[in-house]
Amino acid sequence: MGPLPFIIVAIDGGAASGKSSSSRILAEQFNLLHVDTGSFYRHLTADLVRRGVSHQDLPALIATLGRVKLSTQLNGRSAQMLIDGQPAGDGIRSQDVNSAVSHYAAIPEVRGALLDYQRGQVGVAQQHGFRGLVMEGRDIGSVIFPAATLRFFLHAEPAERAKRRAAEGQQDSIVERDRLDSSRKASPLTCPTGAIDIDSTFLTLDEVVAKMSALIAVSLA
Ligand code: CDP
Repeated sequence: MGPLPFIIVAIDGGAASGKSSSSRILAEQFNLLHVDTGSFYRHLTADLVRRGVSHQDLPALIATLGRVKLSTQLNGRSAQMLIDGQPAGDGIRSQDVNSAVSHYAAIPEVRGALLDYQRGQVGVAQQHGFRGLVMEGRDIGSVIFPAATLRFFLHAEPAERAKRRAAEGQQDSIVERDRLDSSRKASPLTCPTGAIDIDSTFLTLDEVVAKMSALIAVSLA
């Protein structure tokens, strides 16, 4: 028997739709590298804000993006993005980043700066002996890996999502981020044709994961 095929699982969805929790469990179950691309956008946003580069100053943004060096460090099964060798701090989940990130993420040059880096996570996963990767975000099934083994799209009612975020002790503008993420021109948040749509409003995390892992198991058989 040859080596097992490398699998790519894409999970997209709106703010607090359950992407991170389900991705982490699937990574554990199937020996996949977990890649949270939202954390990349958050880290880059926090870094640009710290450097005083406004999302409205395109020349400064382009110059800064051209200089930053992105690399990867593993944290358990998760890929952590380093900017100039520095990992993200807890600040990436702060209210400031919550309200700034979608403005930066709407800029094509910002998305372009992360494109190859995100695709390059396949090499990271292979190098560390993972069976594949599970990548979560907004445009994974539509732009980053349209030919992924499986593409999921998670939905949940905004009130339920706000409840989940509050239970995590976070203040978040879920509806506003979804509005900005869905209406931008560059890689908007959308359920791509052919993706498997899961409404998690009335499902527990275990039920969502069970649906996904049953489908992954079939595709591996
Ligand atoms: O907090 P939550 O899990 O809902 O969001 P996140 O996955 O951490 O993503 C934070 C923000 O990054 C989103 O609101 C988007 O503006 C942006 N993002 C994106 O544009 N594309 C991705 N693939 C992932 C995140």
